[in-house]
Amino acid sequence: MAPARATSPAGRYSTGAIWFHWIIALLVLFNLVVGIFHEGVPALRALMGTHKAVGITVLALTLGRIAWRLGHNPPPLPGEVAGWERTIAQGIRWVFYALLLIMPLTGWAMVSASAKPRPIAWFGLFDVPFLPVTKPIAGTAHELHETLGLLFAGLVLLHIAGALRHHLLLKDGVLARMIPGIAPKR
Ligand code: HEM
Ligand code: HEM
Repeated sequence: MAPARATSPAGRYSTGAIWFHWIIALLVLFNLVVGIFHEGVPALRALMGTHKAVGITVLALTLGRIAWRLGHNPPPLPGEVAGWERTIAQGIRWVFYALLLIMPLTGWAMVSASAKPRPIAWFGLFDVPFLPVTKPIAGTAHELHETLGLLFAGLVLLHIAGALRHHLLLKDGVLARMIPGIAPKR
């Protein structure tokens, strides 16, 4: 028998899903900004150690989030949302989950076999061990990290634009489903 999956109460995401979403979103936004602009902005270059620690944190939180998600169905989208929009929204959800795993893993792999490996300090508490990868794998991981990082940033902008469109133009309560304390429309 398939395991029971909880359905979110009152047309909104479950409290766990909401917390996972916003904590991970803040950490990812930080990492995208620091990663993309670190070469040109010295203050951001100084944050690359934090970028690595934040990235490892995102990996751990995402594993927890996926486990939570497998046991909790999201609330159904409002009936007015067109079929093609549903398909895109659902596709992007899974692309996001994939990127939330691939970005930290490629970052971790690339620094594990760089020419001068520097310890990955987790907020000064402990060093994260290096992954057992060869230099060619680290090189491919580096290229993927850069290309997929830009793709991720583009998709996040689209995702935010979509959320704001629902909230400001369509006023259909889709954003409220992901915000604690605001009653979504039913
Ligand atoms: C949520 C996770 C992460 C995101 C979204 C992310 C995003 C990015 C982005 C967008 C860049 C800039 C790529 C470019 O040059 O165009 C970058 C660079 C970099 N990231 Fe990450 N990253 C993440 C996790 C990690 C982790 C876990 C590590 C290492 C442990 C890491 C190490 C690096 C390094 C060393 C660079 C600089 C690469 C270079 O200048 O050649 N990242 N990251
Ligand atoms: C880096 C940042 C972000 C990432 C990686 C991200 C990722 C995700 C993912 C994976 C989901 C699907 C949840 C599920 O059904 O399992 C989701 C849903 C959602 N996100 Fe984000 N998100 C980010 C930022 C934002 C921001 C800034 C906003 C608002 C302006 C936002 C608004 C929403 C809304 C409203 C939903 C629910 C959509 C629905 O009901 O289908 N997200 N997000």
